[in-house]
Amino acid sequence: MATKKIQFTVVENDSSELVETHQGSFPNLMYLLRDTFGLDGFGECGGVGRCATCLINAEGLTGNSTLKERNEPATLLKMGYQEQSTRLSCQLYITPDLDGATITILDL
Ligand code: FES
Repeated sequence: MATKKIQFTVVENDSSELVETHQGSFPNLMYLLRDTFGLDGFGECGGVGRCATCLINAEGLTGNSTLKERNEPATLLKMGYQEQSTRLSCQLYITPDLDGATITILDL
């Protein structure tokens, strides 16, 4: 069975790129962004949801990906980020929920 393509836009330093992937291609969005865009210092805790070095702005998410779960809400609150669209990319899985979204990598 063919896996459905997932496409979303990634904005980094004022340039945007359409990323095409498929479900489960990386353990989570942090790894996809770090490996695809060569981001140094991105995702320092390895995806535990504690360091907040994997911050993104995510617009257009759907499904369960709109929910902040596990360590994400507490870590974002501790760092002073309250906007709904500010997310830890390590807490987002590569699922069709990302299809059509716009992901902006935030400068730390
Ligand atoms: S990698 Fe540390 S919070 Fe996401």
